[in-house]
Amino acid sequence: MSTHIGAQPGEIAPVVLMPGDPLRAKWIAETFLEDAKCYSEVRGMFGYTGTWRGHRVSVQGSGMGQPSLAIYANELFREYDVQTIIRVGSCGALTEKLAIRDIVIASGACTDSSMNRIRFEGLDYAPVADFGLLRGAYDAATRPSGPGDEVPGVHVGLIFSNDSFYSPRPELITRMAEHGVLAVEMEASALYTLAAKFDRKALAICTVSDHIVTGEETTAQERERTFGAMVEIALEAAFT
Ligand code: HPA
Repeated sequence: MSTHIGAQPGEIAPVVLMPGDPLRAKWIAETFLEDAKCYSEVRGMFGYTGTWRGHRVSVQGSGMGQPSLAIYANELFREYDVQTIIRVGSCGALTEKLAIRDIVIASGACTDSSMNRIRFEGLDYAPVADFGLLRGAYDAATRPSGPGDEVPGVHVGLIFSNDSFYSPRPELITRMAEHGVLAVEMEASALYTLAAKFDRKALAICTVSDHIVTGEETTAQERERTFGAMVEIALEAAFT
């Protein structure tokens, strides 16, 4: 086992879906995977491995924020030879181009975190998604669905990985929006940087859970439904 993940070598699949909430990891495993087994309960940050359409896949909670995600991503890449991590999370919309429940596929992630600034000694690194995963996710998200299915808007673009959920400088988030940033969340930037460092693949897909401009929020039931659609998009992106 690694420092924060209680799995034996070989127990984690090469493809990992990564929600922030460990109970979402449990829900994804129980809802989408066959023969899912829990490989780690360390600190309540559950990890499961099972199969989806015959492909081995794991689901690992990351916790909230980049320092927490970076612990799990580092250990998955270093100690368990994970090749692909897809974050499946929520975000706050920063522009009226986005509606609540829409899906944002993050082509790149800006940040106010010092993690990259320390790594690059003050230089500005531009963390980006793996293009193959991004294209796969976009294709899966925009494929015509069955009659009656609600089709969420799908957006590809920049997001902002904030260190503070309760931002002391909301005007800076507004400035990001004025420069084309679509949404705010708290993890993608560190994930993209670590994937690049280890020469692995990463993508962040987020559903809009709340709207910073209009003040709208989703209900728990709506969040579950849109979260499920996003998980399917992530699985299709990983295995097509
Ligand atoms: N900030 C604001 N709203 C959000 C976030 C965030 O990090 N994540 C989901 N909704």
